[in-house]
Amino acid sequence: MSTPELAYRIHGGDPVVGQITALGAKNFATKAMVAALLAETPTELSNFPPIGDVAITRDMLSAIGATVQVRGDVLAIDPASIHSSNVPTPDSGSNRIPILLLGALLHRFDEVSVPVLGGCKIGERPVDFHLDAIERFGGTVTTTEEGYVARRRTRLKGTQIKLPYPSVGATETCLFLGVLAEGRTVIANAAIEPEIIELITMLRAMGAVIFTSAGREIKIEGVERLQGTRMPILGDRIEAASWACLAGASDGDITVRGINPNNLGNFLAYFQQVGGGFELLEPDVVRFFRRARLSPAVVETDVYPGFSTDWQQPFAILLTQANGISIIHETVYENRFGYLRALNQLGANTQLTTHCLGGLPCRYSDANHEHSAIIVGATPLRADGHVITIPDLRAGLAYVIAAAIARGTSIIRGVHLLERGYGDVVPRLSRMNLKIERVNLGEVL
Ligand code: EPU
Repeated sequence: MSTPELAYRIHGGDPVVGQITALGAKNFATKAMVAALLAETPTELSNFPPIGDVAITRDMLSAIGATVQVRGDVLAIDPASIHSSNVPTPDSGSNRIPILLLGALLHRFDEVSVPVLGGCKIGERPVDFHLDAIERFGGTVTTTEEGYVARRRTRLKGTQIKLPYPSVGATETCLFLGVLAEGRTVIANAAIEPEIIELITMLRAMGAVIFTSAGREIKIEGVERLQGTRMPILGDRIEAASWACLAGASDGDITVRGINPNNLGNFLAYFQQVGGGFELLEPDVVRFFRRARLSPAVVETDVYPGFSTDWQQPFAILLTQANGISIIHETVYENRFGYLRALNQLGANTQLTTHCLGGLPCRYSDANHEHSAIIVGATPLRADGHVITIPDLRAGLAYVIAAAIARGTSIIRGVHLLERGYGDVVPRLSRMNLKIERVNLGEVL
């Protein structure tokens, strides 16, 4: 008998009001799990989010022999028991983490193999920077149909790398390679997202010697060994921005706990520019609301400190409620607007173009990727039992926001994609008076 497909049924149209706590950030939690493998002793990660990507990563770590235990919101990892360098794809699926394991495990083993990568289909997402980095540290990499195999003959050696683009994942690979390599490593054009800075803090707490400086440069003095540590997972800035958009789009009032407002950077500026308001209530508590009639904006996604590509989906829903023509130019991924078509079915007025609208031409200017969106508002959204299917994780929460502001009932399919990155969505949103249920799709269609 096949497992029933779960979906969300949302009855929307009212302001969403209440308090919510941002859970630990997916894009740090899974990286911290990999970092723990560099140590000789156990690590404890607290404020751990109950999300699918963590479960996938946990299954990969267990499969190679690491001892992983969950105690409440603390995840304990003991790498001493690792016995295999052959990382399989667990039954729970795959994500972007295998490519990080390739570099991290290469200090412990002469040969490491990882499976092909999963994760959201939002562009080609090549891994050439990672593979190139491993080779610069003295390893070799073979690409097979099943995945990647890295090898080394001697201890990895520190090196100088200039990343062609400040990739988050490639910067993490370079950090994992550099901290235990012999001698000095310099990473130029590195990513400086808050989750990267947090990872550097964690690695320093484990004994790594890492210097950051202005201009995206990271210097590492390799050490012989690292020890486990205790590390709280920082609140998810992508989640927090999504709750802000929900407050603004629904004309509600949402207080988000567990978030450092500094990590929301330029999101706060754009949110205010379109008519959103916020109040800093405590060091990690921010209240979001609508302070004026919403007005349009021109937004260009970029690496940090720019407007995150992971914020554009909830912000697009907010812009459907702004009066006038808004533009979003997606410059990080070439194919991240697939979710807009379903929004038009709910009454939004959006169009895509292959041109670079907004600022300067981006890396995709000569290719045929629909990477700029035009959003004409304000359009009230309406749902009449509409069934919309989630194409990727961030689009998933954007659909929840769209359904929350749409008058009527929407059914959202493909929630497993959303739940890879967001935990306890239904109970947390129900507490803010949103009529949302997790249902068996077969029973509601
Ligand atoms: N790129 C290459 N070659 C590489 C690596 C990256 O060309 O070897 C390109 C990518 O194709 C993309 C750009 O560089 O165009 C940026 O990619 P990056 O490596 O920064 O992305 P990532 O590390 O794979 C992480 C997050 C993403 C987030 C991006 C950008 C994780 C697990 N994923 O991806 O999050 O959008 O950084 O901030 O940390 C999500 O959470 O839904 C998500 C997609």
